[in-house]
Amino acid sequence: MKLLVTGGAGFIGSAFVRLAVSGGHFSVLNVDKLTYAGNLENLASVAGNPRYRFLRGDCADAALLDNCFRDFAPDAVIHFAAESHVDRSILSPQPVFDSNLAGSFQMLEAARRHGIARYIHVSTDEVYGSIDPPQEADENYPLRTSSPYSASKAGSDLLALSYHTTYKLPVVVTRASNNYGPYQFPEKLIPLMISNALEDKPLPIYGDGMQVRDWLYVDDHCRAILALLEKGAAGEVYNIGGSRSLPNLTVVKQILAATGKPESLLKTVTDRPGHDRRYALSSRKIMEATGWAPQVPFEQGLAETIDWYRNNQTWVAHVKSGEYREYYERNYAGR
Ligand code: NAD
Ligand code: DAU
Repeated sequence: MKLLVTGGAGFIGSAFVRLAVSGGHFSVLNVDKLTYAGNLENLASVAGNPRYRFLRGDCADAALLDNCFRDFAPDAVIHFAAESHVDRSILSPQPVFDSNLAGSFQMLEAARRHGIARYIHVSTDEVYGSIDPPQEADENYPLRTSSPYSASKAGSDLLALSYHTTYKLPVVVTRASNNYGPYQFPEKLIPLMISNALEDKPLPIYGDGMQVRDWLYVDDHCRAILALLEKGAAGEVYNIGGSRSLPNLTVVKQILAATGKPESLLKTVTDRPGHDRRYALSSRKIMEATGWAPQVPFEQGLAETIDWYRNNQTWVAHVKSGEYREYYERNYAGR
């Protein structure tokens, strides 16, 4: 089976490409613009594999997509490519609209022009917005977005579903919770806290730190997408949660304990504007439809992730050079 994967040089996309190519059942063409978040070092283990190809390109580029669909003739699309960070979308919203909305639109149009047997649009649980306890969002929960990022993801998620309703494109939409694991860009909570703790730098906690997220190990997310590639029904939405909800402060204190660093490194900073208080998902639908369930318990996944960052300081140093420093200054200075 031939897969056209977009955003395969990012955190989740590269985990998916490594899993798909190493499994032996798929050939992958990875189309990635290589923004600050795209990193070919994430794909070193598959770079020489004859079943893997890479093309640097923008998923909003219709002509480039025409060539990809014509030359590679994919059986399925897995559309990961996006600007994925809420804080960056607050600092400068334009890129989320260019990549997440215009990019998703051009991907859907190319698939409509050329035809496709399966199209997976990777969305997020952030489309449901903040959810009061004890509720959990199932796939029919109303969409109520808070940030430019989540609004752009909700817009593209609904656009993808409209291509099934209107054009019968075989679209499946996934809405996953917070991923963590190796190769995650250290702008997101877990890798940022691990990397700052390892360097004895302050750990910036937004507001009271009692915001709740549902943590999903990245390989569990990728296995869910493979399950939906096989068994997902066209036109359907599937939540993919880790079934492990924790307040941020609990997660960060676990990181400090595991790295042997003192809690005096915790630093309360001004809260994120429009900060969603709590995400909570029901993943019953995908579990019943495919038999998928998360396999990696949070404590195990976190310990493996901390080990990975400890043992991959060169990767961290490359990623944190240049543009990262400028972003860090813009996001955290004076907060
Ligand atoms: P990431 O930021 O690590 O990687 C995004 C990748 O997309 C990068 O390689 C980047 O170069 C590429 N990209 C961005 N714009 C592009 C464009 N216009 N054309 C081609 N490539 C482009 O993101 P991630 O955390 O791996 O997230 C991947 C997808 O999963 C996103 O759609 C995100 O919304 C979704 N998602 C992420 C999470 C999470 O916790 N990280 C949870 C649920 C859903
Ligand atoms: O829920 C899925 C979403 O999870 C994905 O769609 C997004 O792509 C992904 O970035 C993530 O969004 P969040 O905003 O939840 O993730 P982030 O890691 O940025 O923040 C997690 C929580 O930690 C959130 O409550 C904000 C808080 N936080 C984050 C950072 C970076 C801090 O307290 N301090 C920080 O420095």
